[in-house]
Amino acid sequence: MKRRGIFITIEGIDGTGKSTQFRLLARHLRGRGIRVCATREPGGTKVGEKVRRILLASKTGKLAAHAELALIYAARAQHLEQVVRPALARGEMVVSDRYNDASFAYQGYGRQLGVETVRAFDRLVCGTTQPDLTIVLDLEPRRALARAHGRETLRNSRQGRFEGQGLAFHRRVRRGYLEIAKREPHRVKVVRADRPVAEVQAAIRNLVDEFLAQHQ
Ligand code: TYD
Repeated sequence: MKRRGIFITIEGIDGTGKSTQFRLLARHLRGRGIRVCATREPGGTKVGEKVRRILLASKTGKLAAHAELALIYAARAQHLEQVVRPALARGEMVVSDRYNDASFAYQGYGRQLGVETVRAFDRLVCGTTQPDLTIVLDLEPRRALARAHGRETLRNSRQGRFEGQGLAFHRRVRRGYLEIAKREPHRVKVVRADRPVAEVQAAIRNLVDEFLAQHQ
């Protein structure tokens, strides 16, 4: 399928304020008259939302790391076929709250499956459908987890599966994101998230606007 649209992803460990920033960015882009397909992973399709529930419901350790990885890529395959590739082919801008860098960071580094294992799935499922620009929201894991836990309490729900993984896990995930950013500095931009929402959003918009100025 011929690709025309731009693909932007937003990433970061849990509790960085990613989903809020994602919503604000989608609104900003639509305000600029851009046709935006805003989506998220795991999820984004009916099958994906079911997988998301399996992932978030299984208690830490019960789901084998490779099973977790395979489920995530199953959801991604569905998401790509049903949502992402058709939208890109229509020339829309796809903005996704998480995509494949989350698998490299969470499963590759966090779960310690290694980059090569994740890459094997990624080649098969994502192929050339890779993000053009990725924003990584970065926050010290202790602060991020405190935020994430506060949010769970507010929602009065159980602690999320990944959020319950503890500090060491999230430190590895963060290191994963930062290493990806170091390897691919043109595509991956790190934004400090230890600032007020509006400031973080301004930084993200600057990066996206700069990218669009160079690519349109
Ligand atoms: P997220 O959307 O951040 O959850 P919420 O907004 O409900 O807090 O993602 C759910 C979890 O899934 C998150 O902890 C990260 C994890 N995840 C992976 O481990 N690998 C992946 O490839 C993806 C997309 C998500």
